[in-house]
Amino acid sequence: MSTVLPNVTMIAAVGRNGVIGDGLTMPWHLSEDLKFFKRTTMGHPMVMGRRTFDSMGALPGRRSIVITRQTGWSARGVEVAHSLPEALALVAGAEQVFVVGGGEVYRQAMAYAARLLVTEVDQSPDGSVTFPPIDPVDWVETARDEHPGFAWVTYERRG
Ligand SMILES: NC(=O)c1ccc[n+]([C@@H]2O[C@H](COP(=O)([O-])OP(=O)(O)OC[C@H]3O[C@@H](n4cnc5c(N)ncnc54)[C@H](OP(=O)(O)O)[C@@H]3O)[C@@H](O)[C@H]2O)c1
Repeated sequence: MSTVLPNVTMIAAVGRNGVIGDGLTMPWHLSEDLKFFKRTTMGHPMVMGRRTFDSMGALPGRRSIVITRQTGWSARGVEVAHSLPEALALVAGAEQVFVVGGGEVYRQAMAYAARLLVTEVDQSPDGSVTFPPIDPVDWVETARDEHPGFAWVTYERRG
């Protein structure tokens, strides 16, 4: 697909049932995974939807680009874009860019990402927000690091 950008990675923690959140917060607290998220994304720009920004705020040490349809929206410590392509253009020169959610933004970013870092959480929580399906036609699992209660899984785009 011509829109794929080699520097774009999506990073998400996903329940067995595909749930990633209830619309406000994450459905679990996995401190090991929060540390993994921090060390993986540190120093790299992050792209997120406005609702995810509302739930986690601006994280230190990382350039944050927030996507919103609201004209005039702003928040301290973040850059604003009004579409995903606009956000990705802002960070086109970065060696690595992380799309950090949430569900609405992950769905759009599937067409651009070259890599997925998925924490498979061994829970099936209630929640209305889900991760998009990972189609094996497009994605191949290249690494799996098992831990009690979760696994860190890497997918690379085929071809
Ligand atoms: N488990 C995980 O790894 C993980 C990671 C991140 C988030 N989450 C969870 O996911 C949930 C939030 O996800 P969500 O799907 O509700 O929202 P989201 O994707 O974080 O944000 C959606 C918002 O982004 C903006 N947006 C999306 N597409 C746009 C576009 N094409 N152009 C311009 N603006 C656009 C809109 O903001 P405006 O409304 O301002 O226009 C939209 O309301 C929370 O529960 C959070 O905890 C989980």
